[in-house]
Amino acid sequence: MPTLSWLTREKDVKSADAVAYRLLERDDALSFGETASGNMLIQGDNLEALKSLLPYYRGQVKCIYIDPPYNTRSAFEHYDDNLEHSQWLAMIWPRLVLLRELLAEDGSIWVSIDDNEGHYLKVIMDEVFGRRNFIAEVIWQKRTSRENRAAIGSAHDIVLVYSKRTAVEWKAVRNTLPPNMNGFSNPDGDARGPWRSIPFSAQGFRPNQMYKITSTDGTVHEPPRGRCWGATEEVFRRYEAEGRVYFPKGGAGKPRIKQFAGEEAGLVPMSLWLAEEVGTNEESKKEILALFEHDTPFGTPKPERLMERIVRIATNPGDLVLDSFLGSGTTAAVAHKMGRRWIGVEMGDHAVTHCAPRLKKVVEGEQGGISQALGWQGGGGFVFYRLGEAVFDDDGAINPGVSFAPLAAHIWFAETGQPMSRPHSGPFLGSHGGNGYALLYNGILGDKSVSGGNVLTRKTLDMIRASAGEFVGPMTVYGEACRLSPETLKAEGIVFKQTPYDVRAR
Ligand SMILES: C[S@@+](CC[C@H](N)C(=O)[O-])C[C@H]1O[C@@H](n2cnc3c(N)ncnc32)[C@H](O)[C@@H]1O
Repeated sequence: MPTLSWLTREKDVKSADAVAYRLLERDDALSFGETASGNMLIQGDNLEALKSLLPYYRGQVKCIYIDPPYNTRSAFEHYDDNLEHSQWLAMIWPRLVLLRELLAEDGSIWVSIDDNEGHYLKVIMDEVFGRRNFIAEVIWQKRTSRENRAAIGSAHDIVLVYSKRTAVEWKAVRNTLPPNMNGFSNPDGDARGPWRSIPFSAQGFRPNQMYKITSTDGTVHEPPRGRCWGATEEVFRRYEAEGRVYFPKGGAGKPRIKQFAGEEAGLVPMSLWLAEEVGTNEESKKEILALFEHDTPFGTPKPERLMERIVRIATNPGDLVLDSFLGSGTTAAVAHKMGRRWIGVEMGDHAVTHCAPRLKKVVEGEQGGISQALGWQGGGGFVFYRLGEAVFDDDGAINPGVSFAPLAAHIWFAETGQPMSRPHSGPFLGSHGGNGYALLYNGILGDKSVSGGNVLTRKTLDMIRASAGEFVGPMTVYGEACRLSPETLKAEGIVFKQTPYDVRAR
């Protein structure tokens, strides 16, 4: 497959591996509402934030939306958009690599971009996500007014959509759009209620759908030129028996099929999204002004209706949505109103000055954007985090400030490749593929003496076994030291690994 080359490519394609795992530190003063809801607003560079999320959320995110700086060389007030071309690619590559790790097997990633970097982005996303997993390039009509200063005014952005599956496979899990409800009436007093008619023909030539149909007034109909009937003759006869066939113009018109209210199918999303359907940049600026009176809005916030469409297609209530270039917080606000869980990352001060207050207003039931259409009344909550110290120092030693829970999550992730789904109150972390994992660290057994509870002895092994519940089988135990003989370890099916030396960041 052809690939893109740039100045620092060799280094950039490996750079995600070198990023440190940092702790995420709660800031309760900026958190709001039901903090147990799992929603996370993180202030910090998304490269480090995404890496820190991996041990907890790898393969869990159903929908990733990002709206990175477009590299337009125009002066933005809130961030440096003036990255050189190579720098931009160097910036986006490792983030895409980490985002792919966080994406669920049936998830999708949606990336807003314009024609400054869009075509280069397509090539590198083909490489990171797989060309066969390209789903679509959506054209979003971002403005309707004429741009008189430009040679050719830019009226659209694109949104590149990828999955970990092919488009055909992903189609099975994506949602359709709400059906059009227009045109229902009941001119013939059908007992089944209001109906509308849809054409009974389809594009192309299928031999078993090329038959003659005689209408109520005796007219014999052939399929329209270049088309065939909408189904086989057998199916048509069934529709007839069910009283579903309708001939307009008193019988002279070609057959149509009655569709009753409630039977309409959802609409398959198309790749052209018009301003009237999903809003414009102008609409989103107004949404921000309504939230923050007298404020200078961001250069390119996205309208809530645009985000609603993406979240609707890509997720169901309860699914996890991630935006690591959160800006003014639109994705999180929309995901929240739609009953999805969310994680938002923003490095600028506006994480504090815009995102947190906006999401607080959402929790309180603000009525802007898509609120009224959804009947949003408020509720839920979120926790505000900042990036804390690294879990491991430059020499690989565990930083003294690291407590049991994050180290346990890192060891579990390093051993199994799986995210840690629940906090642990005992040393046994769980089993994976028939092998158990345990960690003795930070006095988890209640023994605070120097290294006391962190050493594998007969006594601590018994305590580990007791905390393992029904699990019996081979086990990997991490601890500071081991006082059991090689024979005992073998007989007990234990592999001992020493902290910090044997703890490997993935
Ligand atoms: C185009 S804006 C996103 C606008 C957003 N979609 C909205 O509706 O408000 C891009 C945002 O990404 C943030 N950003 C840029 N680089 C970042 C990084 N490395 N880590 C976290 N945020 C970053 C910028 O501060 C900016 O707020």
